[in-house]
Amino acid sequence: MRRFFVAGNWKMNETVAEAETLVKALLPELEKYESVDKAVCPSYLAVPAVAGLCKGSSLKVGAQNLFWEESGAFTAEVAPKMVAELCDYVIVGHSERRKYFGETDETVNRRLKAALGAGLLVIVCVGETLEENEAGQTEAVVTRQLRQGLADITPEQADSITIAYEPVWAIGTGRAATPEDANHVHKDVIRPLLVEMFGKERAESMRIQYGGSIKPNNAAELFAMSDIDGGLVGGASLKADSFVEIIKAAAMVTIIIEESEA
Ligand code: PGA
Repeated sequence: MRRFFVAGNWKMNETVAEAETLVKALLPELEKYESVDKAVCPSYLAVPAVAGLCKGSSLKVGAQNLFWEESGAFTAEVAPKMVAELCDYVIVGHSERRKYFGETDETVNRRLKAALGAGLLVIVCVGETLEENEAGQTEAVVTRQLRQGLADITPEQADSITIAYEPVWAIGTGRAATPEDANHVHKDVIRPLLVEMFGKERAESMRIQYGGSIKPNNAAELFAMSDIDGGLVGGASLKADSFVEIIKAAAMVTIIIEESEA
């Protein structure tokens, strides 16, 4: 059965106090949607408070990044085991990390391996820029990001990985990819590559989230596509109401799929 995974990436938003208020508003609502896997990714500083509030609930907590070294003289960095103490998930390779902080496919790969080594579930982000998109390079860019980002990952490890396809031009712009265009990349580019890397069965059970201007009014049509298995939500995850609406859309599509398969 298809099980959607929707994660909120709060980016550099929400102080500890604001994060607590947001999670307290989310928790009673989100518990209604058992059929959907869900997580929020606050700043590192808000992670302890959010993890404390989410304990025992179905809302999981993720970090937005991590460093690959285990410990040592790496001022301001956070080690995999530090993240794993409080979080189930971690995001690696977000386009904002690539654009502003020099993240490369190689460093994505190092972070991914370190995160998996610490027992974390990892959301690996890929996606082309507007220029690359307009130059018809989407497939080439996403393929390179996946081949290099997921280099040397075993099929067993792949079970702990979610891919987030986030076209950079759709992030924070209010201009989401059309469901058909997003699904084309999921179905015809990412999934076949995962099949090649990890085998058919595993690749089919891996989840590919879409990210980039997911809102309550477009979530259901995105999730209704054959290969969009959830979402990585930025702006719309900062308001309890809109994040809940997006999770609800995933729950509704789950019901529709179940009914159509019955
Ligand atoms: P957005 O961000 O929903 O605000 O476009 C998505 C993301 O960057 O993960």
